[in-house]
Amino acid sequence: VSAGPTYEDIDPVRFIGNRSSGRMGFAVAEAAAQAGAKVTLISGPVNLPTPHGVDRVNVRSARQMCDAVLAVSGRSDIFISAAAVGDYRVEARSPTKLKKTGKPLSLELIQNPDILAEVAALPKRPFLVGFAAETKDVERYARDKLERKKLDMIAANLVGTDLGFESSENALLLLWQEGSEDLGQADKKVLARALVERIASRFHTSIDKVATE
Ligand code: C5P
Repeated sequence: VSAGPTYEDIDPVRFIGNRSSGRMGFAVAEAAAQAGAKVTLISGPVNLPTPHGVDRVNVRSARQMCDAVLAVSGRSDIFISAAAVGDYRVEARSPTKLKKTGKPLSLELIQNPDILAEVAALPKRPFLVGFAAETKDVERYARDKLERKKLDMIAANLVGTDLGFESSENALLLLWQEGSEDLGQADKKVLARALVERIASRFHTSIDKVATE
């Protein structure tokens, strides 16, 4: 399970981050461990205790998260990507603190690797579950991401004023190739348990399908 934001450093004291608290991913890791899974939680910078029975790896940038995820993905059955990975990083991080010059400052940003896409390209890829936080047209964007990122499932949520980022509640719509299920709005820990149950069920269906082919 990946969780939390990534921080992309600009100089030794500044970074580009996002508002992910890590709570959804931590709740999913906890629910998966409680359901009997052996869980590695790869976390960006967050202020949360490690759930009981979970192995935790701390990272900072998207590239570090990508390396940490790839190091365990080859021997994992399921990868749940709940992290809010920074899409861009500063191309040339300054080794010293940037000073005011009185002129506009430009930062050249380059795209980070897409972690899910890298895992999807592995020869023995795990069952892939992504998240899609959207501010509008949730279902349409999420189904597009499911196809484009070649995911097995996607959990979509509308990011609003008191839902999603920085909140203890979320509302999730689960989508997969052949169907969908609205898990409704609830505390992230309650949603995480429902999500893990649905993932386990779809995961077993996919294994049975491969076994009979
Ligand atoms: O495209 P978007 O960032 O909305 O996609 C969301 C999903 O993709 C999440 O599951 C997120 O963890 C994953 N992601 C990723 N690598 C990125 C960006 C997003 O794995 N660079």
